[in-house]
Amino acid sequence: MIRKAVFPAAGFGTRFLPATKASPKEMLPLVDMPLIQHGVEEAKAAGMRDMIIVTGRGKNAIEDHFDVSFELEAMLSKKGDSALLSSVRRVTDGADFFYVRQNLPLGLGHAVLRSMDLVGQEPFAVVLSDDVIDARVPVLKQMIRAYEKYSAGAVLAIQRVPKEAVSRYGILRGKRIANGVYDVEDMVEKPKPADAPSDLAIIGRYLLPPSIFPALMATKPGAGGEIQLTDAIRALIGTERVIGLEFQGVRYDAGTKLGFQMANIAFALKDPEIGPGLRAFLKKEKLT
Ligand code: UTP
Repeated sequence: MIRKAVFPAAGFGTRFLPATKASPKEMLPLVDMPLIQHGVEEAKAAGMRDMIIVTGRGKNAIEDHFDVSFELEAMLSKKGDSALLSSVRRVTDGADFFYVRQNLPLGLGHAVLRSMDLVGQEPFAVVLSDDVIDARVPVLKQMIRAYEKYSAGAVLAIQRVPKEAVSRYGILRGKRIANGVYDVEDMVEKPKPADAPSDLAIIGRYLLPPSIFPALMATKPGAGGEIQLTDAIRALIGTERVIGLEFQGVRYDAGTKLGFQMANIAFALKDPEIGPGLRAFLKKEKLT
């Protein structure tokens, strides 16, 4: 059973400045739901209950979002707006939220290490909410299936990326053991295209064992001077079985302006309320 999910959300979100000057990137909306809530809903759908959010300065909106708003609920209930009321209740239902601060964004690995006391001695998930994945079966659920089937210690969501894009990702070398499933033998963070061991890139979903924490403590700053999660997972290979899973679904890199807009358009077109109107507008204005 994997019950806990960690959401690193302490980065500066510089690629969205000035929008993220005073409000967190993780609260940017995809249609009507903040990015981080998409991740939380995915974790809930995969059976997780404890949501551990790693925050930093200027991230109070995240804590407020995942808190009950008594006045808002009372007002909606008085108005009899049951649809809106249930969409507001859904935010906090079915999960408990815990927070830990990362005082300085010293890297993804450092952010995950901050969750050590809240995670304790059990396997857990890490969700980067700026990787939005539209999937029929939630990606974390697909990963739990692989975790169980292959008695894995860790499962990494992976996707093939164009050769020229490898330097933006952790890239793995592995042995293919089934369709879309790899036994990870090595991995490298942000390699130059010429040095990349493959085109299999690690995407922002991980299932990790608690042994990642001592590995993180021993990890020196790597690419970009940051403590890299990839470097610590690499140190586990040999003692833990690390599986790479090519997931089923469409992934949007909503941490970039282009990916974020693509995700918004795709989700909006599928939305029963606004999809038809958006499609008609794009057609009328010849925007497609
Ligand atoms: P990113 O590098 O995409 O986020 O990290 P960022 O640093 O906020 O964005 P840019 O690059 O400046 O535009 C992926 C996730 O990891 C978190 C971020 O908040 C984001 O959700 N993160 C990253 C941390 O929590 N701490 C860190 O030290 C680094």
